[in-house]
Amino acid sequence: MKKIVVLTGAGISAESGLKTFRDTDGLWEGYNIEDVATPEAWQRNPEMVQDFYNQRRKSVLEAKPNAAHYALTKLEDKYEVTIITQNIDDLHERGGSTNVVHLHGIITRSQSSVKASLTYPINGWEIKMGEKCELGSQLRAHVVWFGEAVPMIETAAQICSQADLFILIGTSLAVYPAAGLINYVPREVKKYIIDPNIPTASNRSIIEMPYKATIGVPKLVDELLAQ
Ligand code: APR
Repeated sequence: MKKIVVLTGAGISAESGLKTFRDTDGLWEGYNIEDVATPEAWQRNPEMVQDFYNQRRKSVLEAKPNAAHYALTKLEDKYEVTIITQNIDDLHERGGSTNVVHLHGIITRSQSSVKASLTYPINGWEIKMGEKCELGSQLRAHVVWFGEAVPMIETAAQICSQADLFILIGTSLAVYPAAGLINYVPREVKKYIIDPNIPTASNRSIIEMPYKATIGVPKLVDELLAQ
């Protein structure tokens, strides 16, 4: 079976009602990254950071997968599909995709604040201050903050290097190392990008599909299933 690798960003979940980061009215317009998404923010004000991610988790649990998440699952009938997502939501999994790599963690799990590899399921929507990991440190959201290591990046790079076809969906390609993954995809491999606002950084002989995800993804999936 041919291998399809899909790299997704916040844009694929936008039509499920989850805000992107850098669009007008995106999350980073309302918050400073330095106040909520860095180890320093956690040192300074853990309650605020915990509350920020508790609110994000609540929105994720209320959201539902959309036509783009569902369409990707259909590709599995004919291809070996790996989805590498920068998203911390679980909408690919709830849509039915079976092989999803989370580069930036997943908000439905908690993480030890002293050892990132210790993660746990969460009961309900909230991590409370005072809830501790097995080492006795406060639990936080299982997300990768700016300035932290991205433990899955090498696995993701390896997956990209073996792609027979590569699809980018709904990412501004503004954040590294994720944005550099496309450089691991062999030059001759066919590449597509689905985004209503194609980022200039993608400019490497990519087939551009300037549509919203719920329109563009089902369209491309139908084409690939018909081939
Ligand atoms: N369908 C497809 N793409 C869309 C849609 C839509 N309906 N709406 C917006 N987009 C596109 C935007 O045009 C933009 O290119 O989604 C992209 C969103 O970009 P960002 O907000 O920068 O999100 P992302 O690329 O996922 O951010 C990367 O930055 O802060 C972080 O860790 C966070 O994983 C995140 C990383």
